[in-house]
Amino acid sequence: MKVAVVMGGASPEHDVSLASGRGIADAVTELGHTAVPLVLDRSDEWADGLHETIDILRSVDVVLIGLHGEGGEDGRLQGFLEQLKVPYVGSGVTASAVGLDKNLTKAVLSAHGIPVTPGVRLFGAETRDAEGALQKLKAADVDFPVFVKPANGGSSFGVGRATDLASLGAAITAAAELDPQVLVEKEMIGREVDLAVLQFPDGRVEVGPALEIISDPSQPFFNATAKYDAESATQFLIPAPLEPELTEQLKRTALEVFEILGCAGLARIDFFLPADGGPVVNEINTLPGFTPASQFPRMWAANGYSYADIIGVLIDTAVA
Ligand code: DAL
Ligand code: MG
Repeated sequence: MKVAVVMGGASPEHDVSLASGRGIADAVTELGHTAVPLVLDRSDEWADGLHETIDILRSVDVVLIGLHGEGGEDGRLQGFLEQLKVPYVGSGVTASAVGLDKNLTKAVLSAHGIPVTPGVRLFGAETRDAEGALQKLKAADVDFPVFVKPANGGSSFGVGRATDLASLGAAITAAAELDPQVLVEKEMIGREVDLAVLQFPDGRVEVGPALEIISDPSQPFFNATAKYDAESATQFLIPAPLEPELTEQLKRTALEVFEILGCAGLARIDFFLPADGGPVVNEINTLPGFTPASQFPRMWAANGYSYADIIGVLIDTAVA
């Protein structure tokens, strides 16, 4: 098969995407397919030119999207590929758009009774009014410390922690530089656990073993440094050492989230296990990090699937 691998893009996760894309392209080759790398530059322009890229996309059997964040994980590229009638790996337009937007994800999941991290949404002028944000947090019963995030971000870029009005204002300004829509969430003190959902060519959807993140103690949280610095002391425990009932509950919820949002192919669903309550969904990643060291492939490796095996499943599911 001829398999296009799209990577790069205008989002702050450009370099993460190149690392995912290179890993995916190598696996495509290892599987005996022909990998056709397609790079979107930092201005969201196709390195090969738009018309040439359309011709290439029309000539391939399937597209593997190795993009993260806006432009690639939010439904835009998926819509473009729908127009070109080329099969692609992963979720469609709506699930991608809702899944990347952390506020929308939480609204949809809450409406279905799935517990999510408590917080508030700030939009436009609200992101320039720290006092107003504080009032909104009080009304929602959310106390400091809080985490401030760009609503459509990834890899923790633009994420900050705030403990008072001044640090709240600074964190909102930093997040709003990346996205006019920001969310401010209660800090969850407790454990952080990820689940990896994979769809097989026969339509079956399965969840891999849970992964617990033991973040680098030198970092204030599981931030971009803890995620990507080669020197990072971050550890992943697979399977996460949890009570079997709790693992089952998380797996069931991960499947529910996948179904509620109407996902396809794959997703990584990230949970917090607060010390003082039941699990809450932090977020979903419809195109999770896919370097060979990333959580998704490592979780499936614990179930006996090599990195290339997973890419093979994703390709076969997309063309099934
Ligand atoms: N957004 C990054 C790539 C992740 O979810 O792993
Ligand atoms: Mg994410």
